[in-house]
Amino acid sequence: MKGIILAGGTGSRLFPLTKVTNKHLLPVYNKPMIFYPLQTLKDAGLKDIMIVSGKGHAGGFLELLGDGHDFGVHLSYGVQEQPGGIAQALGLAEDFADNQKIVVILGDNLLEDNIVNAVQAFEKQEQGAKVFLKKVENPKSFGVAEISGDKIVNIEEKPKAPKSDLAVIGVYMYDAQVFQVIKTLKPSARGELEVTDLNNYYVSQGTMTYEILNGAWGDGGESFDSLLKASNLAAEWTKSGKK
Ligand code: DAU
Repeated sequence: MKGIILAGGTGSRLFPLTKVTNKHLLPVYNKPMIFYPLQTLKDAGLKDIMIVSGKGHAGGFLELLGDGHDFGVHLSYGVQEQPGGIAQALGLAEDFADNQKIVVILGDNLLEDNIVNAVQAFEKQEQGAKVFLKKVENPKSFGVAEISGDKIVNIEEKPKAPKSDLAVIGVYMYDAQVFQVIKTLKPSARGELEVTDLNNYYVSQGTMTYEILNGAWGDGGESFDSLLKASNLAAEWTKSGKK
């Protein structure tokens, strides 16, 4: 299995912090934001990792992380020329994935939990995809899952009237057919290839599984307040020796 970190996009919601640097290089407590998703993949046993960044300030990732040696991983890089959506950014990793299953994490997502058990379960899953759900107070800001027993029946991206309070967090596992599915997606109203449309394909095939995330989760890129919340979470983990 291979790991992919998506760190493209414009970071416009955090302007002017993102005027001269990439969102995922901003400080989250005592580390650059991207260290957290990188550590999450490494702790899950993934050592071969690709970072897909946007065009602006892409060189910063190379300066910060190089070939990944200091982090104990092997890094490859891809550049998304235009912010065409999460699924479009993922499509750039097709050659890197080399027909293996993949674990994808958004570069602004911070997780308290080690996801190794879910990754190992997905390794045994014959086909399909797996996502994590987390109960949140503001579901309107996320992809929201409607569930029935152990099945997701639909996911809605930033719904006006959420059918549950279960957000689909930014960690996704896919089988090797994902790149063929991405090629069938059409841009959404906001002009992006949506990860929620990709996930709903697997839902419609009946091959989407999910796990509930127990520990804390932060999406550091949503707003100034979410960036602050992410820093506070990271400070708590660091001071308590959890991370
Ligand atoms: O954080 C979880 C949420 O992430 C999910 O619940 C949503 O379903 C999903 O759409 C996404 O929502 P966001 O509004 O947070 O997405 P955002 O546009 O902020 O992009 C999140 C990360 O994805 C960003 O830090 C880098 C990467 N990205 C995004 C876009 C639009 C790319 O690499 N390229 C892109 O074109």
